[in-house]
Amino acid sequence: MENRKLKNSELERKSVEEFKEAKKTPIIVILDNIRSLNNIGSVFRTADAFLIEKIYLCGITARPPHKDIQKTALGATETVDWEYTENTLDVVKRLQKEKVKVFSVEQAEGAVMLNDFQPEKGETCAVVFGNEVKGVQQEVVTASDGIIEIPQLGSKHSLNIAVSTGVILWDLFVKISSHTSRNSYFSH
Ligand SMILES: C[S@@+](CC[C@H](N)C(=O)[O-])C[C@H]1O[C@@H](n2cnc3c(N)ncnc32)[C@H](O)[C@@H]1O
Repeated sequence: MENRKLKNSELERKSVEEFKEAKKTPIIVILDNIRSLNNIGSVFRTADAFLIEKIYLCGITARPPHKDIQKTALGATETVDWEYTENTLDVVKRLQKEKVKVFSVEQAEGAVMLNDFQPEKGETCAVVFGNEVKGVQQEVVTASDGIIEIPQLGSKHSLNIAVSTGVILWDLFVKISSHTSRNSYFSH
């Protein structure tokens, strides 16, 4: 293919100010005790791409500014709203009181496969991602309104947490965008 690759200046990305002003996708990300700073930064970068409302950093999850978060976030910590809370369960309960539906992203009994999951129109969803070794804490899974699993067909037990975030956020973004006028999200 001879198609010329676009320059960064041709991608028409938002400035930090334009991002702050933009209508957000009604999705909240909760990071439950994420160990790797590079994973945290990657989640910020993906959250920026899909205009995610907010990221809650919980427990041992490190907070910006940090050079190892910056390495993968590439500035997305300046655009996406975030808040640190020590206890993940407190965030889950607080959001549920605000009528946000909280879904643990996990491999668990009774989980709904992502391809079968449909976010409700008009509802804000929070998605909880778990620690690289221990996953989402059981008490958080138990308190959730549902569990979403990403189907895997190969030999590995699970995906990297930042990769899982990419898969989930893109899927929910597309499904939520179909509830509304597509142009409001997809136009520059
Ligand atoms: C590396 S996995 C943790 C695996 C760990 N052995 C466990 O017990 O959950 C880190 C996080 O990525 C997400 N994840 C990875 N693969 C997933 C899948 N197939 N379905 C749903 N979530 C997944 C979950 O949020 C999980 O807590």
